[in-house]
Amino acid sequence: MKIAILNQKGGVGKTTLSVNLAASLTRAGSRVLLIDADPQGSALDWVAAREAEPLFPVVGLPKPTLHRDVDQISEGYDHVLIDGPPRVAELARSAIMASDLVLIPVQPSPYDVWAADEVVKLLDEARIYKPGLQAAFVVNRKIVNTALGRDVRDALATYSPPVLDAAICQRIVFAESAAQGLASFESEPDGPAAREVEALREEIMQNYAQP
Ligand SMILES: Nc1ncnc2c1ncn2[C@@H]1O[C@H](COP(=O)(O)OP(=O)(O)OP(=O)(O)O)[C@@H](O)[C@H]1O
Ligand SMILES: [Mg+2]
Repeated sequence: MKIAILNQKGGVGKTTLSVNLAASLTRAGSRVLLIDADPQGSALDWVAAREAEPLFPVVGLPKPTLHRDVDQISEGYDHVLIDGPPRVAELARSAIMASDLVLIPVQPSPYDVWAADEVVKLLDEARIYKPGLQAAFVVNRKIVNTALGRDVRDALATYSPPVLDAAICQRIVFAESAAQGLASFESEPDGPAAREVEALREEIMQNYAQP
């Protein structure tokens, strides 16, 4: 399956979810490729910071032709994840056209809810050419023991993509492990962050993976 992690808004957790979801799929036995479609090259920076053996390959492809090249690049992999860029609509469009599922990370903030407008518009445009395209919101940086996660779910209900049940909380281990090019489960194998990412992977595989 090809999954783009996309939101025009910056800093919502696209790269964090991309590397951790790719790592979780690898841990579950899949062959995974991560495409860095962001000119900032954050996923490439993540892998460059890593001293351990790579979990999965990361290739940089911040090009508006990604959707044309993706089938060839992804040969031999079970899953291809695309870490999308903020802002650049041309690259986001290509990442959308390259994927079967678009995951949209959103933080529990009204600013993120309002900003979701942009990516939802791009998805609506893409569906004209790709009617089977799937999309879902993922709440990221949920603060434990607050109602903000529920509030953001209610607010996002006005958009057509559903909100996944699995949410990722604000956890320092995501930033700490990223600094060393590690996935959160490598720092804390049975920690809450690893469990949340695993639940996210399971929900995606159960609901969106083709038989
Ligand atoms: N669940 C989380 N818990 C704690 N920190 C997080 C979490 N998700 C993301 N972060 C931190 O927030 C910052 C932004 O995250 P990230 O780089 O993944 O966002 P992005 O959407 O890829 O940003 P950009 O739009 O610049 O590509 C990073 O410092 C990251 O470590
Ligand atoms: Mg990023």
